[in-house]
Amino acid sequence: MNRILPFSSHLRSFALSRFCSPTYTATRRMSSTVQFKQALSIPGPIEISDEVLFANAHPSMSHVSPDFIPVLGDCIRMMRTVVDTADGQPFLIAGSGTLGWDQVAANLVEPGENALVLHSGYFGDSFSDCLETYGANADQVKAEIGAAVSQEAIESALKAKKYKVLTFTHVDTSTAVLSNAKAIAQTVRRVSPETLVVLDGVCSVASEEIHMDEWDIDVILTASQKGLGVPPGLSILIASKRAIQVFNSRKTRVTSYYGSWKKWLPIMKAYESGSPAYFATPPVNLIYAFHTSLSAITKSSPSLAERYELHREASQRIKAAATELGLKQLALAPEFAANGMTALYYPDGLAAGDILPRLVKKGIVVAGGLHSQIKDSYFRIGHMGITAVDGSRGDVDTVVKALKETIAEAAAAKSA
Ligand SMILES: Cc1ncc(COP(=O)(O)O)c(C=O)c1O
Repeated sequence: MNRILPFSSHLRSFALSRFCSPTYTATRRMSSTVQFKQALSIPGPIEISDEVLFANAHPSMSHVSPDFIPVLGDCIRMMRTVVDTADGQPFLIAGSGTLGWDQVAANLVEPGENALVLHSGYFGDSFSDCLETYGANADQVKAEIGAAVSQEAIESALKAKKYKVLTFTHVDTSTAVLSNAKAIAQTVRRVSPETLVVLDGVCSVASEEIHMDEWDIDVILTASQKGLGVPPGLSILIASKRAIQVFNSRKTRVTSYYGSWKKWLPIMKAYESGSPAYFATPPVNLIYAFHTSLSAITKSSPSLAERYELHREASQRIKAAATELGLKQLALAPEFAANGMTALYYPDGLAAGDILPRLVKKGIVVAGGLHSQIKDSYFRIGHMGITAVDGSRGDVDTVVKALKETIAEAAAAKSA
């Protein structure tokens, strides 16, 4: 698929003036249109809107300039809207989603304390590893591949031991399995009310419905490059009042320097109130891009609720087409199926080498398997952000068409 990206007029004049200056000789030969030859259909990073890409190309700014301060302040406020919280405390820090795990492990768990990790795929193992790196005792409850951990299993684990935090992957990107965040939080509050509920939303924020306050979630951590529709490089975490209180009553020193909330809390509060502050340089351009994307998500049409619905519709179309082609999902039941991505077993007799290169030739980049036990037997399609929300792009149709042609060609080549 060839996509022509038009420069919008004011950005075009900005871009041309920058690119034609002597310091921009390397990019001078760029024409005023940029051709993209691929549709990125992996579960993150995702396709980025032209507006967000241009915002990322903002001229360099001081991170303490009066122009930039409200941009970061707005992002902090808009993140509350995205996860539906009135008084959660957002932390926006340069880094990737993984930094959210480090923040949880370093700020909320003291060495020797217990953490319960619900495992619905690869990312449970990594979160557990991160918690142990900071000295926690991490226990895992593992679901079978394609399912989320049951409420009964969670209840019996919580009854067997006292846990400081319980973590779960809202959508595990290795399996496309969705966990029921509301039910998990309810179980924790009923059985072990003091345990902090930590939602890894790297693959769910802005594509799956989340109501932080109503569901009583203590931490939501995510990253810029998936449902939030921004290039990679920003770690986003929102902590509840309860989580901040637990942090404030730590008996031991925070076990990270860069990830310490002691350092970041005053910075977030300063920017939100309109004052400059410095601990470590924020990713200024990415914050401009983030601001543009969050404004689209929280302040324009479609609404957040409509966005969730559009993700559900895109997901159903891709899953229905896959079923029609005889491809089986990893998700064992519809309630475990994520709306921002789909994981599919290869058809009998076909493997990655038969499918993925053919899709690439048609301009579609999907991801191979990631779950170590079944890595070579499945692939993953991402359909988050503008791919699901902006129907005029035709991304879902393009993916479905390419998938149909690819399966037919691969099957024909095998039987030839
Ligand atoms: C569910 C989940 N958690 C955490 C991460 C880690 O995020 P990052 O790769 O941005 O560090 C990922 C990455 O894809 C993820 O999908």
